[in-house]
Amino acid sequence: MADTILKAEHLTKTFISGKKTLKAVDDVSFELKQGECLGIVGESGSGKSTIAKMLTHLESITDGKVILKGKDITNIKGKELREIYRDIQMVFQMPMESFDSRCTLGDGIGESLRNMGISRTETRRKVEELLERCGLEKEYADRYPQIVYLSCV
Ligand SMILES: Nc1ncnc2c1ncn2[C@@H]1O[C@H](COP(=O)(O)OP(=O)(O)O)[C@@H](O)[C@H]1O
Ligand SMILES: [Mg+2]
Repeated sequence: MADTILKAEHLTKTFISGKKTLKAVDDVSFELKQGECLGIVGESGSGKSTIAKMLTHLESITDGKVILKGKDITNIKGKELREIYRDIQMVFQMPMESFDSRCTLGDGIGESLRNMGISRTETRRKVEELLERCGLEKEYADRYPQIVYLSCV
């Protein structure tokens, strides 16, 4: 049987603003095994993004646990938290929100590798390899992301 990589146990999130409380996620549990893809489907506002943010520590957890590769990561902080980002990271959907327009694409793609202590040369090599795997020329690493708005009337 394949190993369990990620486990959510009774995840709950309550947002509090002033006197109002909102239970955005209510007792969600699931397991992700090696080699599996898991999709979370639900109507807008049903708590999908909040679950993903709790799993990756971008949002605090009101209740429940997150177990990554057998380790309880629910309350980890600091150096330990930085280390888990080798194994779990958010990939945001919107490319124009994911890239900083003041940085080259290469710097943007390689940022998480540099944060892990990988050398500049090795990062550049991996960035070029990734661009080529995506069907893009490696020279794109030196370009800046730009958006072109077209409007039709
Ligand atoms: N930071 C926040 N503060 C208060 N309420 C929030 C916050 N983030 C999300 N919510 C609320 O939590 C609910 C779930 O949101 P979200 O997880 O973004 O849903 P989904 O990704 O499924 O569209 C929504 O009602 C949303 O308005
Ligand atoms: Mg969402």
